[in-house]
Amino acid sequence: MQMNKNTAVGVVGATGYTGQEVLTLLEGHPGARLEFATSRSQAGEPTGIEGLVYSDPDMDRARDCDVVFLCLPHGKAVPWVESLLGRGGEAPRIIDLTADHRPGSGRESAAVYGLNEWYRDSVADAPLVANPGCYPTGMLLSLMPLFREGLVDPARLTVVNAASGVTGAGRAPRPDLLFAEVAGNFRAYGGGNRHRHLREVRSELGEVEILFQPHLLPVSRGILETIVLPVPEGIDADRIRGLWATRYRDEPAITVRESGLPELRDAVGTDRISLGVEDAADTRGPVCVLGVAFDNLGKGAAGQAVQNFNAIMKWPTELGIRC
Ligand SMILES: NC(=O)c1ccc[n+]([C@@H]2O[C@H](COP(=O)([O-])OP(=O)(O)OC[C@H]3O[C@@H](n4cnc5c(N)ncnc54)[C@H](OP(=O)(O)O)[C@@H]3O)[C@@H](O)[C@H]2O)c1
Repeated sequence: MQMNKNTAVGVVGATGYTGQEVLTLLEGHPGARLEFATSRSQAGEPTGIEGLVYSDPDMDRARDCDVVFLCLPHGKAVPWVESLLGRGGEAPRIIDLTADHRPGSGRESAAVYGLNEWYRDSVADAPLVANPGCYPTGMLLSLMPLFREGLVDPARLTVVNAASGVTGAGRAPRPDLLFAEVAGNFRAYGGGNRHRHLREVRSELGEVEILFQPHLLPVSRGILETIVLPVPEGIDADRIRGLWATRYRDEPAITVRESGLPELRDAVGTDRISLGVEDAADTRGPVCVLGVAFDNLGKGAAGQAVQNFNAIMKWPTELGIRC
């Protein structure tokens, strides 16, 4: 594909974990020209990209871009969206990586949900795209086709055991994320089925019977979700694998394994998600076990954001991502 790097893009919150990953992908993207990368704490410092230093956040500068990526902490995207979209006239398109405008946030009506493989066509025309959360990306891409096609027993509980590397918590220092607290350890958190990502998942799946238990994995990046799925009589792993393979046949960022469950190393450092499924023996009702592996900063954040950028620009979904 013949392209020029002439689409002006800006990254707000570029020194954070997702911001760094977005910056890396955009630097190598054949259609993107990086106009600015913001950081309050490192303004004036080099980004490592030729000719680009970090600058203080500046909404006026963002107005001159075609597309702006908001890689900010929770709650901090709202003023940017209100300022950039609220003035009328020519506004940049916004890809918001925060939870501020996702389903269940109370502000979801302002945005199109950027679960790319499902809503790509709507993303193409959206002024504001709410990029999905990391855990929900894995849960929804694996479970959505199964719930929609009746391959889940709605009367029994679906259990999602998920583990994320430490970058999932962001770069701001926290005592519970110190090396000495995390290394050589493994723990559950967000107990009681109350993690905020559940609102996002339930908004898409409906009020299904689901239990989501996240864990902190002592690695820097990567998410592994192991899902215990109650299925109706007659449904097995082959049927689930077949449905995924059909639904995602033309999707370069989704791999459906022919056998076994994926491992973290199948996906870390890529923008791809890997899905696998097995039958479970000796359970009272039929059960399948799903495995989902992806990089929280790749498909779970920056990779999917760049797929949404490609949708806005009407480019192939795999342009500039690592799949
Ligand atoms: N980490 C993940 O795996 C992941 C995955 C999916 C989605 N997300 C979502 O993506 C967003 C960013 O996450 P992250 O992990 O990259 O966070 P992070 O590492 O904490 O980075 C936040 C960035 O925003 C800047 N910033 C902080 N407060 C600001 C403010 N008030 N105004 C302007 N800039 C500000 C920070 O730099 P300065 O302080 O120098 O300005 C930094 O560059 C979060 O909302 C998170 O929920 C994260």
